[in-house]
Amino acid sequence: ETDTGGATRIGQICSRYNARPDALVEILIDVQAEFGCVSDAHAAQIAGRLNLSRAEVHGARSFYSDLSAEPKGRRCVKLCQAEACQAVGSDALKAAAEAALEVKLGGTGMPGEIWLEPVYCLGNCALAPAAMVDERLIGRASVDAIMAALEGGEH
Ligand code: FES
Repeated sequence: ETDTGGATRIGQICSRYNARPDALVEILIDVQAEFGCVSDAHAAQIAGRLNLSRAEVHGARSFYSDLSAEPKGRRCVKLCQAEACQAVGSDALKAAAEAALEVKLGGTGMPGEIWLEPVYCLGNCALAPAAMVDERLIGRASVDAIMAALEGGEH
């Protein structure tokens, strides 16, 4: 399970509802919107924050069909915002990608949609600006190349 930083975000989401156990469903929906799923690790964190048992959180997750333990249909586009990419136009690429994908960098679309995420060096500086669509690295990235990769198939 890769969930770097997830615990912090989940803590923030729970705080939004004052970690009220009766806000469990709202919290689950927000976590799903943010991460594309409510994984078992997310569920454990939520249970801890809300003082509920994991079984209660799993029960609520399985009750609502909009919620799922696995990400479904979510596509992730990462745009490098580090120096080498900044130097060759990552800002323009960011603006163009935000417009084409209708989501702000760092923003999360609805579940099943596209998640546009900033990253800081993809190790592809020689081919800056760099982007990544799901697991596919794109060098000298353009919006066209990103759109083509998105159309190239589900991950
Ligand atoms: Fe963008 Fe290294 S700075 S890939």
